[in-house]
Amino acid sequence: MYDKAQIQALQQTTKQFLTTPLSIDLMTLKKVLHFHEYQYYVVNESLISDYEYDQLYQALLAIEASDPSLITLDSPSQRVGNSLNSNFETVPHLVPMLSLENSYNAEDLIDFDRKARESANLESITYCIEPKFDGASISLIYENDLLVRACTRGDGVEGEDITNNIKQIRSIPLQIPLAANGIQQIEIRGEVIMTKKAFNDFNEKLKSKHQSLLANPRNAASGSLRMKDPKEVAERNLDAFIYHISYVLPIPEKTVNPLLKTHSGSLEFLWNMGFRSPQKEKQVVSKMQDVIDYCAIAAAGRDELPYEIDGLVVKVNDLALQEKLGMTSHHPRWAIAYKFKARQATTILEHVEFQVGRTGAVTPVAKLKPVAIGGVTVSSISIHNEEYIIEKDLLLGDTVIIERAGDVIPQIVHSIASLRTGNEKKIQFPTHCPVCATTLVKESTEAVWRCNNIDCSAQIVERIAHFVSKDAMDIKNLGEANIKKFFELGLLKDIPGIYTLNFEQIGQLEGFGKKSVDNLTSSIEVSKQQPLYRLIYALGIRFVGETTAKTIASRINHLLDLTRITEEQLLAFEDIGIKVASSIVQFFHDPNQLKMIESLIQLGLNVEQTNQQPTDGSLTGLNFLFTGTLAQLKRSDGEAMVEAKGGHILSGVSSKLNYLIVGEDAGSKLEKAKKIASIKIMTEAEFIELINSNSNA
Ligand code: IVH
Repeated sequence: MYDKAQIQALQQTTKQFLTTPLSIDLMTLKKVLHFHEYQYYVVNESLISDYEYDQLYQALLAIEASDPSLITLDSPSQRVGNSLNSNFETVPHLVPMLSLENSYNAEDLIDFDRKARESANLESITYCIEPKFDGASISLIYENDLLVRACTRGDGVEGEDITNNIKQIRSIPLQIPLAANGIQQIEIRGEVIMTKKAFNDFNEKLKSKHQSLLANPRNAASGSLRMKDPKEVAERNLDAFIYHISYVLPIPEKTVNPLLKTHSGSLEFLWNMGFRSPQKEKQVVSKMQDVIDYCAIAAAGRDELPYEIDGLVVKVNDLALQEKLGMTSHHPRWAIAYKFKARQATTILEHVEFQVGRTGAVTPVAKLKPVAIGGVTVSSISIHNEEYIIEKDLLLGDTVIIERAGDVIPQIVHSIASLRTGNEKKIQFPTHCPVCATTLVKESTEAVWRCNNIDCSAQIVERIAHFVSKDAMDIKNLGEANIKKFFELGLLKDIPGIYTLNFEQIGQLEGFGKKSVDNLTSSIEVSKQQPLYRLIYALGIRFVGETTAKTIASRINHLLDLTRITEEQLLAFEDIGIKVASSIVQFFHDPNQLKMIESLIQLGLNVEQTNQQPTDGSLTGLNFLFTGTLAQLKRSDGEAMVEAKGGHILSGVSSKLNYLIVGEDAGSKLEKAKKIASIKIMTEAEFIELINSNSNA
């Protein structure tokens, strides 16, 4: 991006400015700041100290404050978001964002290469291999040298406008030299990531504030992108790799810029524009055997990288050949992801703790000798129930193999019986609740032991935690650790107690500054207006998940309607069977629950169905269900698309189902649906087509 002479000149100007601050003009000052940001965030090699950078930055702020008309969109000061994002607007991508086909072994790769060679009629193909960054994908548009829009992937056709948040990422330039390259507009793609260090640092901060920790760097990155306050995004120190140019205007003559003839060249082009592209991380090889060899080397070295990758992406290097190979509706035929195997580690099962959940179910949790597995230290894993313990053959003191695949929760694969010394002990299930000492019971139809004392303190804490959770009332700043703390101090006794918390007392607790108390107060207040279905879900009625809660809410006007509803009436709702219906009726006849509901009403929570009309009713009356792993859509997004058009999501296959959308590894639901002739079974691509065709209708 900067050549030697330019670097020298910019360093000279920096020095001059630091000694005689008044000697510099605004344009030069911005150039100098851009340069140092680039050195620090892209090249990873700072040429000045943080203090010196800050002096330059403060000088810029002073000049801009003296005359706000001097502030330009690309000024480094404009990264600092000063307004909150309200709703993220949905915007179309210039070119759809496709997904990648996956491969897991050499055979898959050989197969991919053979198909590509046959289709192109070539002896061998040159590939460019780069990391498959484990983060959140983004699409950026620059026009007339300026970053004008950044959005999430969304459904691949449209994403959400997250420009303000993306501006907090220092390795993404606000301005790039497009005009100098004869380009007016460019759309590029990449991945926002959080380095392992940024992730650990941020979690340390959360820990010190007694807040719940982020699960892994990928969730941390994708969660950050949709945050309301750009300042919070800035605190997370995100990073971004840019790896793809999807659109250039005017369409370049292939001869104009030789870099734009190959994928590796476009990575260099992006690097020259000031982006952190995988320029150093890429590898160009001339045949598939070299790709396979490289994959093995990279898999062995993945833990050495400062960020998480979940595989490699192998791309046909010649862009003209890429065009010739084209794409399916789902993925390009010129690229394939090579996914690394789940990471495994061995450790010792030291003891087992028994945790009591909100429904009283007692779950054994294996406490392990802490072991690092893919950048995350694992020290405890749920082992579900007695049957699971038998199936995995687990004894206290056993050496066990544990596994972590992507963002999946770590699992115990099995114990290594051959390493037993004879001192291992059987895992003893308690006969009484470990928290309130009530005798545990096990119903014949269930695998779990339960504590049936609804006043058991562990259950109360868990019920409150469920009530405030993200998919329920979504009360932020009230993590499980805080709930426990408030409960133990007698500040919070039950669910209605959330709305009568004594904030003055909380403010006096260690770790609760004014800001955190203010945040807590406002998120509790905001939660009172949550839609009815969230409240129904939050109540924690057995067998009532989010989908059922939505069905119920759409059929009633007021929460109290449920105190009068009968099992027969509930059974007439789509998707509700006898088990669910009887649980709902039981809940709304329980005097304790009725007392709680009464309190919530008095405290001002919304208990009415506001009857939001779907935006487009083209799927009204139709029932949908997704099964298997979808490649392009997140399941929740697919479900939202159906609901936005008036369709309904069922939770199981029945004759009421109209469409079953089938992803990879679909199992019993697909088999069951095949037997019911009226159900239309469709692929994800067909579903997207259906949604799109309906939008035009
Ligand atoms: S290329 C048409 N390159 O992986 C081009 N994707 O599983 C498609 N990803 O949605 C993307 N690192 O979010 C590409 N070096 C890389 C990548 C990469 C991570 C993500 C991307 C994509 C997903 C597909």
